[in-house]
Amino acid sequence: MKHIAVYPGSFDPATLGHLGILKRATKLFDEVHVLVVHNPSKKPMFSSAERLNMIKQSVRELGIDISPLRFSTLESGLLAEYADIHGAHALIKGFRTVGDIEYELPMSQVNNDLSGVETIFMASEPGLGYVSSSLVKEVSSLGGDISKYVTKAVAEKMREKLDAD
Ligand code: PNS
Repeated sequence: MKHIAVYPGSFDPATLGHLGILKRATKLFDEVHVLVVHNPSKKPMFSSAERLNMIKQSVRELGIDISPLRFSTLESGLLAEYADIHGAHALIKGFRTVGDIEYELPMSQVNNDLSGVETIFMASEPGLGYVSSSLVKEVSSLGGDISKYVTKAVAEKMREKLDAD
């Protein structure tokens, strides 16, 4: 049986923390779907297509094995349904703090109710636990250096976006 997982998130933009989780997930599953999900409670800086594109570029830049990866977006509808349709038995969620688990736990339980999909929680790499997409956006918008937190592809795209505003 092929073991398929979905790695969902806003990824606005993907940080080195996200990409570390993704790399480790490719070692555990035969196929990993990177899914950029529209989260109505957040106002994104980048379109879904831009976010997906930055992830693809970052995967190339970091030399992550692309062969098990599939890339997609979910603009509406349930994550559990996406997992069902694509034969995925697992969702990957990275966590940095206990607060992340508190936020994720009820979602994992609802997703399991909806389709039986399991959520696999992966701890963030040591040293990246404080890095988040929102902090990266804030630091970058105030002129700070984000090169420790994101790939060159993401840093460049952020600069472009901020220059255009
Ligand atoms: O990176 P984020 O914003 O924390 O990711 C949250 C996300 C997008 C994965 C979550 O909001 C989600 O799963 N949305 C899809 C809609 C859905 O299935 N909602 C019910 C989940 S309980």
